[in-house]
Amino acid sequence: MKIAILPGDGIGPEIIEQALKVMNALDEKFETESAPVGGAGYAAHGHPLPEGTLKLAKEADAVLFGAVGDWKYDTLDRPLRPEQAILGLRKNLNLFANLRPAILYPELAGASSLKPEIVSGLDMLIVRELTGDIYFGQPRGVRAAPDGPFKGEREGFDTMRYAEPEIRRIAHVAFQAAQKRGKRLTSVDKANVLETFQFWKEIVTDVHKEYPDVELDHMYVDNAAMQLVRAPKKFDVIVTGNMFGDILSDAAAMLTGSIGMLPSASLDASNKGLYEPSHGSAPDIAGKGIANPLATILSMAMMLRYSLNRPEQADRVEAAVRKVLADGLRTADIHEEGTSRVGTVEMGDAVIRALAR
Ligand code: IPM
Ligand code: MG
Repeated sequence: MKIAILPGDGIGPEIIEQALKVMNALDEKFETESAPVGGAGYAAHGHPLPEGTLKLAKEADAVLFGAVGDWKYDTLDRPLRPEQAILGLRKNLNLFANLRPAILYPELAGASSLKPEIVSGLDMLIVRELTGDIYFGQPRGVRAAPDGPFKGEREGFDTMRYAEPEIRRIAHVAFQAAQKRGKRLTSVDKANVLETFQFWKEIVTDVHKEYPDVELDHMYVDNAAMQLVRAPKKFDVIVTGNMFGDILSDAAAMLTGSIGMLPSASLDASNKGLYEPSHGSAPDIAGKGIANPLATILSMAMMLRYSLNRPEQADRVEAAVRKVLADGLRTADIHEEGTSRVGTVEMGDAVIRALAR
């Protein structure tokens, strides 16, 4: 088993270091190889996703990814910006299924911006389609408007589209995830306005026939956004398109009080995957030793579970994270009165100690 390590920018390298430290403390050893990505890729090789990095990611059994993005690179042309690395990896590796769990650890109920009774015990999963939709749809660009009231004026345009097999495969992933959890799936669409999502709804309804044990409902995306902050615990699994999933997963992450706690997995059809924390590169706190490494450590655990087929090791890592929270250790982002504030490295050390208990 070989793991590609792509630390990236900002806090990426320091949180990846902690996840690797924890991984190396497990009984089994895995081969790893690192490569630059994002701004670091541009700095080293003039491209956010250098050829060698993409090759390594393709060859590896799994990719552990930190985060990309830094102000330094904000003025580059879009194809050279750090975000293009993650979009390129998703597309080139066919990582169409993005799993974003939102779990509220009981110890952190006070860190949520919602009342504890509304969020405590929250445990939901967003399954976001990741290689289609308006993110990748062609044509796109800026042109002279060919028609309409602004004919001849400059206009920007993108294309929202989903092919039937694309919808079917993500629906299967979502129904199967629901079968392993609470057996309830909410498909989020905008079928009242968009053709693409009327079609989405039809196909998801059809795939449902193969999963009679799962309860399916459909919700418009605006209502879903409202329900997420009104009664988030009503959700078990949500399945949605790339764009809506991007937005809803940030909202769901915030419900838990700390986006610094949430892992994510992006999988292809054979469970090869890229694992990354849900948060970004936070360049404002990079190098200060205060970033929360837990989302990356939990992403590494997801990697053990889904791509490396080591569920017992994944359980051990997740249990260790619960223990350090129960012990009252907190990085700055989740710190509250009465808990002990620790830095990035200390948090990693504490997880390793908890593995042994
Ligand atoms: C995410 C991010 C990315 C996305 C950006 C960085 C391209 O917001 O992973 O949610 O929009 O998918
Ligand atoms: Mg996002």
